Amino acid sequence: MTVLDTILVTGGAGFIGAHVARAAAEAGSSVIVLDDLSGTPDFPPLPAKVSCVRGDIADRSLVAKLIEKSSVTAVVHLAGKICVGESIVDPSAYFDHNLVRLIALLDVVREIGPKAFVLSSSASVYGDAVSPITEHARYAPVNPYGATKLAAEHVLASYGRAYGIGWAALRYFNAAGAHPDGTLSERHDPETHLIPLAIDAAMGRRPPLTVFGNDYPTRDGTCERDYVHVCDLAAAHLAAITAIDRHGEVGAINLGNGRGHTVLEVIETCARVLGRGVPYTVGARREGDPAVLVADGSLARQVFGWQPARGNLGTIVEDAACSRGV
Ligand code: UFG
Repeated sequence: MTVLDTILVTGGAGFIGAHVARAAAEAGSSVIVLDDLSGTPDFPPLPAKVSCVRGDIADRSLVAKLIEKSSVTAVVHLAGKICVGESIVDPSAYFDHNLVRLIALLDVVREIGPKAFVLSSSASVYGDAVSPITEHARYAPVNPYGATKLAAEHVLASYGRAYGIGWAALRYFNAAGAHPDGTLSERHDPETHLIPLAIDAAMGRRPPLTVFGNDYPTRDGTCERDYVHVCDLAAAHLAAITAIDRHGEVGAINLGNGRGHTVLEVIETCARVLGRGVPYTVGARREGDPAVLVADGSLARQVFGWQPARGNLGTIVEDAACSRGV
């Protein structure tokens, strides 16, 4: 038996989770997806051998049954709430989903195993840190979403140490793109992410995009982000599980390409890839947005040899467009 034999992917119906589940199944793992379908209308088209279960990660008897029945060897935990803006108006839901329910899940894991746990974390733990950001930067989340992720990491580190759970917290920068075969699209409801919104605006499926502020201290005044392909993120989860098997505690690791693009640069790239302009207006800043978030991604390369294969922004936009039927 290896640590990659049977993987429980919570939140596996979501955008990143579905790509993780597919990558794991394609790498030969048995995969169980557990998702309450609160963030997506149904399960995405995953390989037939992936078993999809609708349920709550805080339902201890359900989780225990799944882990025991299938002899789960690793948990990849992606279920949770992800919108910065929503977290500001409804922090209670964010602390409930991202922290309270994580603790319920971890309590089952500490009692019955498995001993490898990968947490989906976020660059939002850093707040306004100076980019490129290393894992040793000061943690100062500027919104409740980031605070829940940082708190979740602390809980996981404490559980890991006390109960012998090997763990990694993967701090995604801006997940984007889609599987190049176009079957796993980004399906947030409502959609709030820049690249899908820009593509849909260009295709006339939505009103013009609003650029949230052009008075930031960046080269063109718009926010700068490190967009990372979701297939590269998926590969990193499998590499992290293997690293946990070797080292036990892997800790917190940035997943980014180390290159930043401003909102206007993303708009230009979408226009070039699609061969049509992205209509947009400039609006006010969105609360909770740091000016720049760009990773120093060297630790992921060192610790588990992660090499992003689809890091080019043009490739990311092409794959995102393909998944939206463009
Ligand atoms: N933006 C716009 N207009 C829009 C949507 C977004 O100008 O209609 C801008 C945002 O202000 C931001 C950039 O585009 O500067 C990217 O915004 P996204 O909403 O696509 O992504 P965020 O940077 O807000 O957040 C994402 C994830 C978070 C994660 C963060 C880490 O959703 O979970 O990346 O970098 F924490």
